[in-house]
Amino acid sequence: MTEQGDEPAPPRTLDYGERGTVRVYADAEALAHAAARTFIRAMGEAVADRGLGYVAFSGGSTPKRMAELLAEHPYRDHVPWAEIEFCWGDERWVPRSSPESNAGVAMRTLLDHVPVSPSRVDPFPSPDEIPDPALAASMYETNLKMIFGVTDGPPVFDLVLLGLGDDGHTASLFPGTAAVHETSAFVVSHYVDKLAADRLTLTPPVLNAGREVVFLVGGAGKAETLARVLEGPIDVDALPSQVIRPTSGNLSWLTDEAAAARLTGPKDA
Ligand code: 6PG
Repeated sequence: MTEQGDEPAPPRTLDYGERGTVRVYADAEALAHAAARTFIRAMGEAVADRGLGYVAFSGGSTPKRMAELLAEHPYRDHVPWAEIEFCWGDERWVPRSSPESNAGVAMRTLLDHVPVSPSRVDPFPSPDEIPDPALAASMYETNLKMIFGVTDGPPVFDLVLLGLGDDGHTASLFPGTAAVHETSAFVVSHYVDKLAADRLTLTPPVLNAGREVVFLVGGAGKAETLARVLEGPIDVDALPSQVIRPTSGNLSWLTDEAAAARLTGPKDA
């Protein structure tokens, strides 16, 4: 174990060009350690360069182990917690106390246990506070503009963490939804038929403005979708994760061997 914690064995690396760089770790635990170290590095660099680090956390289950690791010694000792602005890439329209709440889970597994600046923890508004998801999305957009001090261009996160759904969605950009093609709003809400639920999400202009965009993808259940996203034809309506093409930032995929099992490697450019 290094001073910062278990350093995973060096990953296999696959360069998919504009579709990103894939780093393949042995298993879920190694993936979680790599994700925690990526978070520490990205936030450390941002704070050193600009005094603050801005992160958009993803939801879902994959980041949970990363969050648990960051809450513990030694990783927790290497994070500039008070200088990080914590936002979310998307949210379910549920009370923050719900086990479905992305922000609620992040708070309960990590943020409530480390010395963050409470004023720099910026969850989406929830049904506990706002009656209407569209209003909540509009309020979050206004809040982001204020946090980042932007008036027209998109907020620029230092680190955007994303997951990959087995249907190809990311954040709450789901197949067949207009949100995938949103080019002006930074935050939208929409009713997702397949979930029979409202979702709130950052839009491609914001996600693609990130200095570093990192997908965390683990498990055999993601193998087929990951191969389609990285090696198949571009079809963002079917595979919204393909809409993630950072304007100038880096795109990487941290995966485990199970999720990478169907990758045949980048085709010669
Ligand atoms: C959400 C997420 C979503 C998630 C993927 C992967 O709110 O559910 O933001 O995009 O990242 O569905 O989820 P898992 O990590 O649970 O597989």
